[in-house]
Amino acid sequence: MFRKRGFIVEFSEIYPQAIAMLKPKRIPHVKGCISEAERLAERWGANIIKARIAALLHDCTKALSSVEQLKLCEKYGIIPNQAEMLSPELLHQKTGAELARERFGVDSEIADAIRRHTTGGPHMSLLEKIIYIADYIEPTRRFSGVEHIRELAYTDLDVAVRESFVATLRYVLEQGRAVCTDMVDGYNYLLIEKRDRENR
Ligand SMILES: [Fe+2]
Ligand SMILES: [Fe+2]
Repeated sequence: MFRKRGFIVEFSEIYPQAIAMLKPKRIPHVKGCISEAERLAERWGANIIKARIAALLHDCTKALSSVEQLKLCEKYGIIPNQAEMLSPELLHQKTGAELARERFGVDSEIADAIRRHTTGGPHMSLLEKIIYIADYIEPTRRFSGVEHIRELAYTDLDVAVRESFVATLRYVLEQGRAVCTDMVDGYNYLLIEKRDRENR
């Protein structure tokens, strides 16, 4: 439990409301994400309470239609970028962050982790990386290469994030879908960090 701007956010208190916002088919994914985020937070020394809350709320607007997403964008002053105009489902990370802040009073660290859970981005915080990777590898995820990223997530978190960016970018390009520049920036940022580490 922690306080922010007069709010008290407690996992057990918001859990029923957060679960009720999901389509039934997404509930196992969110539960998997919570347990994965807990394990990752423990492994990498992040705040486990914040990781649990961010994972619980990360897809809180995922059930909304594109029209509803765009209405929330208007409400919260979010201007869709080119990738979001082409793939409006990407917007749920930004609308979710704002809704989680407004409805549940989460702090900026949790809101930021929700805001980048699909695309990542440059200079991600530890909590952002954890929620991004938890969403990618949680136990219900089944895709070619997931086992490799699962292993990496517990041995080198940055490499796990970087390799997942590569796999995702490759996939969206092959599918002829929009490339999110936040992910490209995130990839380049991790490469710069890697180079700097090697040159030290
Ligand atoms: Fe999501
Ligand atoms: Fe998700």
